[in-house]
Amino acid sequence: LRKREIGVWRYLDYLPVKDPKKIVTLHEGGTPLYKCDNLAKELGLKELYVKNEGANPTGSFKDRGMTMGVTRANELGVNIVGCASTGNTSASLAAYSARSNKKCIVLLPSGNVALGKLAQAMFYGAKVIQINGNFDDALLMVRKLAEEGKLYLLNSVNPFRLEGQKTIGFEICDQLNWEVPDRVILPVGNAGNISAIWKGFKEFKETGITDKLPKMTGIQAEGAKPIVEAFKKGQKTIVPEKHPETIATAIRIGNPVNYPKALDAIYSSGGLAESVTDEEIVEAQKLLARKEGIFVEPASAASIAGLIKLIEMDAIDRDEKIVCITTGHGLKDPDAAIRASERPIEIECDMDVLHSIINEE
Ligand code: F0G
Repeated sequence: LRKREIGVWRYLDYLPVKDPKKIVTLHEGGTPLYKCDNLAKELGLKELYVKNEGANPTGSFKDRGMTMGVTRANELGVNIVGCASTGNTSASLAAYSARSNKKCIVLLPSGNVALGKLAQAMFYGAKVIQINGNFDDALLMVRKLAEEGKLYLLNSVNPFRLEGQKTIGFEICDQLNWEVPDRVILPVGNAGNISAIWKGFKEFKETGITDKLPKMTGIQAEGAKPIVEAFKKGQKTIVPEKHPETIATAIRIGNPVNYPKALDAIYSSGGLAESVTDEEIVEAQKLLARKEGIFVEPASAASIAGLIKLIEMDAIDRDEKIVCITTGHGLKDPDAAIRASERPIEIECDMDVLHSIINEE
């Protein structure tokens, strides 16, 4: 380990870098692992943690994948990079390509990218192309561009992305003083992250740094849950959802490319897959903010919503040491937050009125 380093590059020895001088970094990773005693008490749990990936430089876990993926692009001498995205991947790639003087092309599903993410992709200077289709359509199109040699693809089909993201698993063990949680719960969209994190936990166990593996538990939104459906039937293939729909636009994905790896992670760890409704997502998003001061975007709250549902179903043990991963910052999607909140009170500049309002409580 690089003892003095915090974040992804602390684990350089476990990452496929040929030339460390080519590393492109914004100091990603090193995100907080919060012990959430208020929420644990509310839910009747013994030990609950939230690993808040919203604390990354561009506000999502994608930065861990991009520091590795864009470093690889740098080693290869690539000048044009690109991706399809529900928002966060494009925001992250746009930042890392700016930092390494590369051109960046992003394909987004028109009308279904949260405002903060769109602002980031545009502001970092990417060429932003909105398509009249969903994420799955956008991914097919950008993969064709990559095959034609028009750009270097940085979606999670690129294995270097997953190498960066596996450090979430490393960091959780590190922050728990080399203990491994019983269960890790996270939202699943294109299914790269759950696969990557599982790889991280496995590598630490294989090298003898840790001595067990967590149960990987993936949560999808009710309107975009092909992996959950496969899991419930005990199958190893999915039936793609042609018209995915959810408030959690980050995981509004019907045909996750990494589903085989994700199902393997879930099955071989003895984990679970469950779905949650948009209402459950919004309730969980509020609960996490109001009980713990952690503001996450809707997709991230799916992990908390899933935890709540699994406890109610008696599918998980209340004595487990549980880590929920919150994947993106709440400010990514201000519209969703405002829609879910009470409106502010508006008054004239009048102390009497102010007093009457304060005294209402
Ligand atoms: N949470 C957030 C906030 C995301 O942005 C994503 C994926 C996921 C969870 C799911 O992760 O795809 O590895 O299973 N966002 C991608 C994007 C698809 O384009 O930003 P996954």
